[in-house]
Amino acid sequence: MVYQAAADRYDQLPYRRVSDSGLIVPAVSFGLWRNLGDQMPLENSRKVILEAFDRGIFSFDNAFNYGPSNGSAEETFGQVYQSDLKPYRNELVITTKAGYHMWPGPMGEFSGRKTLINALNTSLQKMHLDYVDIFYAHRFDPNTNLEETARALDDLVHQGKALYVGVSNYTAEQTKAIAEIFQELGTPFIGNQVSYNMLNQQEKNSGLLDILDEHHAGLFAYGPLAEGLLTDRYLNGLPEDFPIHKTNAFLFEKGRDVLVEKLQQLNQLAKNRQQTLTQMSLAWLLQDQRVASVVIGTSSVDHLQQNLSFTENLTFTTDELAEIERIIQS
Ligand SMILES: NC(=O)c1ccc[n+]([C@@H]2O[C@H](COP(=O)([O-])OP(=O)(O)OC[C@H]3O[C@@H](n4cnc5c(N)ncnc54)[C@H](OP(=O)(O)O)[C@@H]3O)[C@@H](O)[C@H]2O)c1
Repeated sequence: MVYQAAADRYDQLPYRRVSDSGLIVPAVSFGLWRNLGDQMPLENSRKVILEAFDRGIFSFDNAFNYGPSNGSAEETFGQVYQSDLKPYRNELVITTKAGYHMWPGPMGEFSGRKTLINALNTSLQKMHLDYVDIFYAHRFDPNTNLEETARALDDLVHQGKALYVGVSNYTAEQTKAIAEIFQELGTPFIGNQVSYNMLNQQEKNSGLLDILDEHHAGLFAYGPLAEGLLTDRYLNGLPEDFPIHKTNAFLFEKGRDVLVEKLQQLNQLAKNRQQTLTQMSLAWLLQDQRVASVVIGTSSVDHLQQNLSFTENLTFTTDELAEIERIIQS
């Protein structure tokens, strides 16, 4: 059946301008890191992606290496784009990244000129696109000079293959350094995609938000649910093989039981707000207008629908915020 997007899709979710740029993104973006892909029937991935679009999520986040098996996420997205979303291309904000391991050999990772240019050309083919809206350098490259990385990204903009560029996982200092080069080149630098969630607030005080703001760019918060920790899934305990991302690994330092106890307390606070822990976690991140969008991942239409109801309570009292801080720091 021919897909017809929901007529009221722009009434469902707030959207935000990224600083004072011309780019507007939904408060929530949909990421394809490891929840969809080759291990899941395409029809299910299609349902989740189209439900996201129907619910006002018009931004989809990929990376060359996203999977589950390396590269399959872009292919999955490309298939759904070809079959259903192509007529909506002007509305969509499609992003991808390059820098983690992509193909064999020493040039299959990081941010040298050849690597970034070949990566985006391949990603465009896999997704059946002429351009992406944002192309990110996925991680800081300690060996390639920053000018080369910035110029390669700038050239891709001049070639019409990316409308904006960004970085991901760069520290505040690294972001400042590359943003200054972009400023000299006149490159449309739009932001940094970093790990940021209620349990992992490292970027809140790192100075990154101010640096981005000074450069007319925004913060894109990935992993807002700490890979599912901030849901009701682990309130009774955490499995030994929990696949924690390296940016959140420190959460396990005091032991799993301490973390579970915190999740239980946060869950109670969310209940008092008539929200789920997940909904409260999304609302919490979006308090700061410099957070342009939070990038969620799910393989489930039900989870997506439940999570997006976070918009029913977006405000926090001073007491609630203090209580969240107390629990997180305990
Ligand atoms: N730039 C980077 O280096 C980087 C790194 C990591 C991630 N990212 C981006 O951020 C996106 C999201 O990352 P993430 O997947 O770690 O995000 P997340 O949204 O923090 O966590 C996703 C996990 O939460 C679970 N979940 C969601 N809603 C739930 C609910 N209501 N109840 C129970 N479980 C629920 C999902 O399982 P179900 O599938 O069962 O819902 C999934 O396992 C990625 O797809 C990617 O685009 C970027």
